[in-house]
Amino acid sequence: MDWIAKWIAPAEPMGDVCPEFCRRFSCDGEISRAVLSVTAMGVYEARLNSGRVGNFVMAPGWTSYEFRHQYQQYDVTEMLRGENELCILVGKGWYRGPWGSIKPGQPAGLIAELKIEYAGGRGEYILTDGSWRARESAVRFSELYNGERADARVTNAPEMPVKILEKGTDNLIQQEGEVVCEQERVKPRRIFSTPAGETVVDFGQEITGYVEFTVNARDGDEIEISHAEVLDKNGNFYNDNYRSAKAKLCYVCRDGEQTYKPRLTFFGFRYIRLDRFPGEPAVNDFTAILVCSVMQRTGYMRCGNAMINRLYENVLWGQRGNFLDVPTDCPQRDERLGWTGDAQVFVKTACYNYNVKKFFSKWLGDMAADQLPSGGIPHFIPAIGEKSNSAAWGDAAVIVPWQIYMSYGDSAVLARQFESMKGWAEYIAGATKDEYLWTGCKHFGDWLGLDAPAGSYTGSTREDFIASAFYANCADILARTCGALGKDPAEYIDLHEKIVSKFRRTFTEYTTQTEDVLALVFGLTEDPAATAAELADRITGAGTALQTGFVGTPYLLFALSQNGYTGLAYDLLLRTEYPSWLYPVTKGATTVWEHWDGIMEDGSFWSADMNSFNHYAYGSVMGWVYEEAAGIQPVEEAPGFEKVRIAPKPDKRLGWLEASVDSAYGRIFSGWYYENEGLRYEIHTPTPARVRLGEKEFDLEPGKYMFFE
Ligand code: BGC
Repeated sequence: MDWIAKWIAPAEPMGDVCPEFCRRFSCDGEISRAVLSVTAMGVYEARLNSGRVGNFVMAPGWTSYEFRHQYQQYDVTEMLRGENELCILVGKGWYRGPWGSIKPGQPAGLIAELKIEYAGGRGEYILTDGSWRARESAVRFSELYNGERADARVTNAPEMPVKILEKGTDNLIQQEGEVVCEQERVKPRRIFSTPAGETVVDFGQEITGYVEFTVNARDGDEIEISHAEVLDKNGNFYNDNYRSAKAKLCYVCRDGEQTYKPRLTFFGFRYIRLDRFPGEPAVNDFTAILVCSVMQRTGYMRCGNAMINRLYENVLWGQRGNFLDVPTDCPQRDERLGWTGDAQVFVKTACYNYNVKKFFSKWLGDMAADQLPSGGIPHFIPAIGEKSNSAAWGDAAVIVPWQIYMSYGDSAVLARQFESMKGWAEYIAGATKDEYLWTGCKHFGDWLGLDAPAGSYTGSTREDFIASAFYANCADILARTCGALGKDPAEYIDLHEKIVSKFRRTFTEYTTQTEDVLALVFGLTEDPAATAAELADRITGAGTALQTGFVGTPYLLFALSQNGYTGLAYDLLLRTEYPSWLYPVTKGATTVWEHWDGIMEDGSFWSADMNSFNHYAYGSVMGWVYEEAAGIQPVEEAPGFEKVRIAPKPDKRLGWLEASVDSAYGRIFSGWYYENEGLRYEIHTPTPARVRLGEKEFDLEPGKYMFFE
């Protein structure tokens, strides 16, 4: 849209106080349609005649603001009266967050256009301009990491003029992503006193969003609430792992009963500590509210093992808790960033659980916008710093669009990202010390791999190995992308062949689990059987345990089950001792942890520095459960499940398993059940299916089937 309105800000800065911009106006006549278009330098909440406009929390969301700043449009026809007041509250949000590099010292800017159409064709605009007023709101402080402070006694503060900002509108784009809103309400499981004498509310579930409370108070009573994910080994409140994020909710009461929830920030938490609270708090006074991007649930899984089912729930909660407009590493500490590596690792699982096409398309738009002229990809998107270009992190530029294409069958995302995808390959070619490999650069390596030398976060897998393996994968995806877009793939087929051949000459042996895994899943080994045997030996040699980090873990079970070691893949999946997916479940996890030993056997913590309890990366194991255990796989010739391959790999220890995926063609279902000394398979397919059951391979027309073994 062509903006006529001007950016405005309070004429005088208000410090930490969130300004509320107001405009009063009359309407005379029957209104046929009224639409409010609005965005802010920060996050906003609009009210028209005291009613909340829309339900978007943390609007306008987070994008690469310099290039792409979203605005939202709301139909407010039904909200207008004769005399009206439009008030828009603006907080710091991401735009004016502590990372500083976005827009240091920027004012709380607002731009809005209300277009009113009357019956009979007359129209009118209410535009942000010099006629608006600003006043201090009850929100005295609000920021992403430190939380929010409100004073209920502040109402109708004196109004002051606004000033017009010298700021253009060329970068404004209409809402591209999913709407972020309140989606679930969780009541506390209990309120208790810790050994240290703290009053703590336990919601029984780690959640991203905020707490709503009701209190009967006297004017000036103060409430102070701290947030935490876990209790320490003595059962006391613990949030040192939030690092510099204070994550506090403070509120000054007015007289009487009142209900409050933060309006311009969010927290990641399971527990809250009532540092100050008037009267006797009761369970019913508190509700935790989940805030995340709206996503249609598409995947379901259940099996005969309660711990795996809990792990699956944890993965779903992890996705909801970290898909708040951008895919974040974690929702609680002083990061909450769109880390590319984490998103790349989890995207397959994300696509099964929910429809995330729109969510990722918007994020990929930001990635393309933030991509450096060299083709380099910043470590997190939206980018806010200078750092960039780690293998497996920057590879999100090719892996994410390709996965979206495979899962949803729409080549539009590939077409839109094609230049960005090519740019990443070109960046590697320009950065490497050796042609057809990627050598001599610094990366995150196999981040958090357990074979890391003491004191290091990086596993022992060679960085040149990882980078070169992902370069091969990148060229392969580009060749396939050309095919999908009807372009000539020859250049990338050739590049891929050259990388593979040089890789084989350079890396003649593999030294870690992750090296074996990458060599297998990226088709780099000339002898898959030998490499798989070596991987199996390494795993059993380590006590039938994984040692892989961010790079190897998402592919580990695939490397095993696709090369004859399905039983070993299940050994790892079902393992309950550290390190394993189920160990955190034994420790009461309700989301997926950043570290396999975030809480150690004796209840102590891994470290305060890097210890998130809601990090979805290792939840990527559910991609394996959908594709290998249940065996539901997209087909490259007919992506988006226009055709499907169903090749379940059962294991008696689970007893039974069922999974389904809601595709554009209908629900695909795969179940297997060990019963009466035999094995029963159930398959429902809305679309032609190529099926493999044990050694048998055959085609099925759409329908519902049962097979016995
Ligand atoms: C994040 C990770 C991220 C990593 C990069 C961490 O601080 O939380 O998940 O991928 O940095 O190595």
